[in-house]
Amino acid sequence: DEAELQARFDAVIARHDRVEPRDWMPERYRATLVRQIAQHAHSEIIGMQPEGNWITRAPSLRRKAILLAKVQDEAGHGLYLYSACETLGASRTELTEKLVSGAQKYSSIFNYPTLSYADVGTIGWLVDGAAICNQVPLCRTSYGPYGRAMIRVCKEESFHQRQGYELLMTMMRGTDEQRAMVQESVDRFWWPALMMFGPPDADSPNTAQSMAWGIKRDTNDELRQKFVDMTVPQAERLGVTLPDPGLVWDAERGHHDFTQPDWEEFLEVVKGGGPCNAERIAHRRAAHEDGAWVREAASAFARRQDAAARE
Ligand code: 3HC
Repeated sequence: DEAELQARFDAVIARHDRVEPRDWMPERYRATLVRQIAQHAHSEIIGMQPEGNWITRAPSLRRKAILLAKVQDEAGHGLYLYSACETLGASRTELTEKLVSGAQKYSSIFNYPTLSYADVGTIGWLVDGAAICNQVPLCRTSYGPYGRAMIRVCKEESFHQRQGYELLMTMMRGTDEQRAMVQESVDRFWWPALMMFGPPDADSPNTAQSMAWGIKRDTNDELRQKFVDMTVPQAERLGVTLPDPGLVWDAERGHHDFTQPDWEEFLEVVKGGGPCNAERIAHRRAAHEDGAWVREAASAFARRQDAAARE
């Protein structure tokens, strides 16, 4: 009966074991997973746009090849995550409709423009760096397919982060203009990167329950702090200044104190008022509509194959 199923589910969660697609699970657990995994997948797919903007203008064949590989990886991450979502009964078509209609979200970070080529490096270093801080714990998330997808994603994210850092290091060893371009890019992306981890725990309606279910293994503020502590020495080695005068080492705490991002801006961007929200959704909607004939042709071919197999 339901009480016994709930008790069995609670025992799996309590011993940090995995819940698998065919296991009984509370409807709210399923709904939370669909919400988070779908929005994670949407983020990967939308995230292809800001970087893709520089593929045709990369300064060398090597940089172009690296950027192409990274953007293709993001598409793959999106597909792993939509597949993980489908194990919960969600359909990719329905999820794409929810993305383009604004019924589901994607990461705020991708609503900022990529104005200079240095942004390609900064996104790799800061955005993929933040994504790694957020995604490594998700390898241990309680839902099996999600955690296993994260293991592959994290391996590719570390390549994304290193190529970004190496790109910036190369520019910092270049001309004054290149150094200024890197600093300007870091100034624009630092605060939006901190917002990627979500609102402060005190303003996060989902964190407590997601922690109780083992969906999240750390809170938003804990991961934001880990990201800041990891990034400060990297910025020093790069020779760039992080744009927060309140960022100082607190020996007492063994962590860096830092200024909170502008949460009003965050809410505005999440609500759709960021610099690029409309453009990102319009681009995604157009790609989905332009691709309708491919989906119809593939379905017609599959139906014909099935019919032939039955004859
Ligand atoms: N952008 C947009 N919406 C955000 C957000 C952000 N940065 N941070 C929080 N939100 C939304 C939440 O989705 C939630 O709204 P909802 O209930 O309608 O979904 C609301 O703000 C309150 O936030 P909570 O902290 O209560 O919500 P969560 O418990 O879901 O935590 C999260 C938010 C930390 C982003 C969590 O969902 C998460 O860890 N998601 C998986 C990882 C992910 O999506 N990372 C960003 C992707 S970037 C990326 O990976 C691409 C990289 O490869 C370049």
